[in-house]
Amino acid sequence: MALPFPDGPSPDGRLRLTVFGTGYLGTAHAACMADAGFHVLGVDADPARVKELSAGEPGIYEAGLAVLLRRGLASGRLAFTTSYRRAAAFGDVHFICVGTPQRADGSAAAELSQVEACLDTLAPLLDKPCLIVGKSTVPVGTAARLARRGLPGGAELAWNPEFLREGHAVADTLRPDRIVAGVASARAEAVLRRVYWRQLIDGVPFVVTDLATAELVKLAANSFLAAKISFVNAMAEICEIVGADSAMLAQALGYDPRIGGSALRPGLGFGGGCLPKDTRAFAGQAAELGAAQPAALLRSVDAINTGRRDRMVQLAAELAGGSLAGTRVGVLGLAFKPGTDDIRDSPAMAVATAVSDLGALVTAFDPAAMDRARAQQPRFRYARSVLEAACDADVLLVLTEWPQFAAADPCQLAAVVARRNVADGRHALDPARWQAAGWRYRALGQGRPLHPQRPASQRSMQASSSSVSTGLVT
Ligand code: UDX
Repeated sequence: MALPFPDGPSPDGRLRLTVFGTGYLGTAHAACMADAGFHVLGVDADPARVKELSAGEPGIYEAGLAVLLRRGLASGRLAFTTSYRRAAAFGDVHFICVGTPQRADGSAAAELSQVEACLDTLAPLLDKPCLIVGKSTVPVGTAARLARRGLPGGAELAWNPEFLREGHAVADTLRPDRIVAGVASARAEAVLRRVYWRQLIDGVPFVVTDLATAELVKLAANSFLAAKISFVNAMAEICEIVGADSAMLAQALGYDPRIGGSALRPGLGFGGGCLPKDTRAFAGQAAELGAAQPAALLRSVDAINTGRRDRMVQLAAELAGGSLAGTRVGVLGLAFKPGTDDIRDSPAMAVATAVSDLGALVTAFDPAAMDRARAQQPRFRYARSVLEAACDADVLLVLTEWPQFAAADPCQLAAVVARRNVADGRHALDPARWQAAGWRYRALGQGRPLHPQRPASQRSMQASSSSVSTGLVT
């Protein structure tokens, strides 16, 4: 059997798409594809999620997603179901967008059970030609291995990794930087060209590769971004020792077009549902493949990143006078970055939890992530505003760079805190403004020397004798 409708112009309404998994990736993909004119059926095993989406509620904080979702539902081109049978009968192209989290057994490897279960459930139900397109991030070789498990005649597997950023999911899906089509046949390529007709008209680069290269592009892209952030944070560590300013350093570096300023902001480092776990999983796979140096590189990217969290806790303790026990700490920001309510592997949550573990009473505020944070960490107090989080605080920590925090009035906050100490983990505040309002301002990788300059041997002795144990894994 041939793959469906490989030829012809842009959508004629006949090419029908399904999207398995309705997280950030799947929901954005389903809504954007419906907007591009396709009939789309979103599939999720969770009936509550299907009900929520069918009612036009995205259930996640993503700019523009609710509008697209409701428009798709109203047009009759977008629907959601829990039924694989219905999806198999409906779809010509099936997108797999389910999660590939880090394994719960403590190893860094990716947990592929959701991808495997999706394919194993769908495959026996397929009775017409179709293309199955993996979008989830997977170890290299996964697509080939899955294809070997056997697909019914007329079904073929392709891999088309997704590079969207949370908070920009809709914009990145509608107008990606590039589309990578990992295919095993010209017909699969032709189907993907028809799916992405709108992006191709817009001139988005379309890179056709084999399956393994497509998988690897995604892993390499995430690792490169992670490495770039860890590089600037490694420089920030040196800035702290010598009294240089990492924010200025990054700005100056970024003007070099070969370096570029994106993913070069020093601070608390990367978190979220992708970069940390993908970097670790890739490091693990590189080691398994016998690529020792790439594995070591990726592991040190991860170690530098988690080291920044420890350093932030240490900075908070320094501002508190040496010990956090019994102090009140106001925490501004819990999401792993602004513009999202996602707290997966959030540096902010990790620092706030470590500070609380050291005996501080944490009062936290985040403009979007409060509900998720409350469910994960009932030990904190939760404030309704920046001002309330700052009330009676001995130290204020800025852990996510929400614009609301930069806009906060340091004079107003100075009037409600117990002590005017602020540690800025994201270079979010204007130091001059805060200092003028009487605050003792410190930032990761910025300002004055954190330790007197001495030979390295003495520095490490001092660090070990005065360091604060944070309980964080580095
Ligand atoms: C990332 C990739 O950007 C995306 O291409 C991939 O598909 C999924 O992973 P996302 O997790 O949404 O997307 O976040 P991103 O905006 O890249 O930021 C990741 C983390 O790095 C955040 O915690 C952010 O605060 C941090 N970061 C980012 C920095 O610390 N410095 C920077 O300069 C940039």
